[in-house]
Amino acid sequence: MVSKSLDTNKLRLRQYPDPILRSPALPVEIFTPEVSAIAEKMTEIMLANNGIGLAGPQVGISRRIVVISLSGKREDVEVLINPVLSNFQGISEMEEGCLSLPGIRATVRRSAACTVKALDINGQEFVLDAVDLAAIVVQHETDHLNGRLFIDRLNSLSRLSCRRALKQMEQEFQEKN
Ligand code: NI
Repeated sequence: MVSKSLDTNKLRLRQYPDPILRSPALPVEIFTPEVSAIAEKMTEIMLANNGIGLAGPQVGISRRIVVISLSGKREDVEVLINPVLSNFQGISEMEEGCLSLPGIRATVRRSAACTVKALDINGQEFVLDAVDLAAIVVQHETDHLNGRLFIDRLNSLSRLSCRRALKQMEQEFQEKN
């Protein structure tokens, strides 16, 4: 249970440099209706913002819950709880963005394929082989669960090109908080 009185309507997208994005999320241990409600709200927020993946910490929930929709459509939404990745293969370099880092895009080097073991919203385990975009998205979202952002994985040149935008977001965050 996340909290006794969580109102999922109050969940909102967290943006860099919100510290919750840097804190490793805890596993889900009990599959309460609250977990379903969080996944549903995450789906809503992801689709409304044209995202293809979203992780718990990005809505202020430090739990290992991920929603993905590679097509950006509701019928393709997959919920992955406590995902564990293994069997990494190949190398892929793809331009990535992140709803928590609006306006920033950069090429990230990741594995081109991996195996995902996760629980569904009912707590049933499933395993899938992810390739191409699916593999990239599950790696990106699993990073979020570990407090990592794609900007941590950039080469020094890309990092430099993002610096100004990051500084601006840091300043705006400071002014708001
Ligand atoms: Ni992201």
